[in-house]
Amino acid sequence: MNASRETKTITPPDVLARKGGTPLVCLTAYTTPMGRLVDPHCDIVLVGDSVGMVLHGLPSTLGVTVEMMIMHGKAVRRGVERALMVVDMPFGSYEEGPEQAFRNAARLMAETGCAAVKLEGGESMAATIRFLTARGVPVMAHVGLTPQAVNTFGGYRVQGRGEDAERIRRGAAAIAEAGAFSVVLEKVPEPLARLITREIAIPTIGIGASPACDGQILVTDDMLGLFTAFKPKFVKRYANLGDDTEAAIAAYADEVRGRRFPAAEHVFADTPKSVGASSVKDGEAA
Ligand code: KIV
Repeated sequence: MNASRETKTITPPDVLARKGGTPLVCLTAYTTPMGRLVDPHCDIVLVGDSVGMVLHGLPSTLGVTVEMMIMHGKAVRRGVERALMVVDMPFGSYEEGPEQAFRNAARLMAETGCAAVKLEGGESMAATIRFLTARGVPVMAHVGLTPQAVNTFGGYRVQGRGEDAERIRRGAAAIAEAGAFSVVLEKVPEPLARLITREIAIPTIGIGASPACDGQILVTDDMLGLFTAFKPKFVKRYANLGDDTEAAIAAYADEVRGRRFPAAEHVFADTPKSVGASSVKDGEAA
């Protein structure tokens, strides 16, 4: 049996080895086409539970299920060959304890083909991370603003300001010591993210954190301007595809109403113009 693929896939140990090196490039994907677009440019592709808000219109990530993550994970798998694919463990699928976490992580890995999972939480998750990593489940941790705890935090506020910094610092140290191969630092003060990056032995992946982090992640739909319900301060828009999409839809509607679409080149003659190869484009008779 030859299980090797032609393209070398980035593994969790490869990511761990990048501590202090060239910054890790990470983006989210929820579909096959987006997986294909981000894969050549990214080290890590995260099938984030942000899918619930971005694609399903949910008010938070709390309503996301294991089944939704499996469906999106399978779709992304078909588009990603090179990057490490990580799938988020949704709210309620791991907090009960290590056994529940293992059961659901094993399902996510077996059914999506992902090589690692991500879960949220600091010190309270250390035992679970230790249990998972000892049983073949590489774990990316997530501390700071952990969106699944939005109700506990009372909103999507910066975490770790003032005396609260110690809690985030201890959490990052605990999950690193427990065996996580990387950690997302979300929406924490820049000096704290810089300090944690210096202190822990695993790569930190920043989102609203610091350029000193070992990598950066953004929600792809945010940076493309496709998700426009709100824009966190930490998002930089590299395109405005939401506006472009709206303009394209308006142009289509206008042309359909004015009978300018379809035009002559979009419709078919009774008989093909010729039987030569030039009459066949994309497998379609002209
Ligand atoms: O769900 C998600 O997309 C995430 C990233 C924002 C890190 O957790």
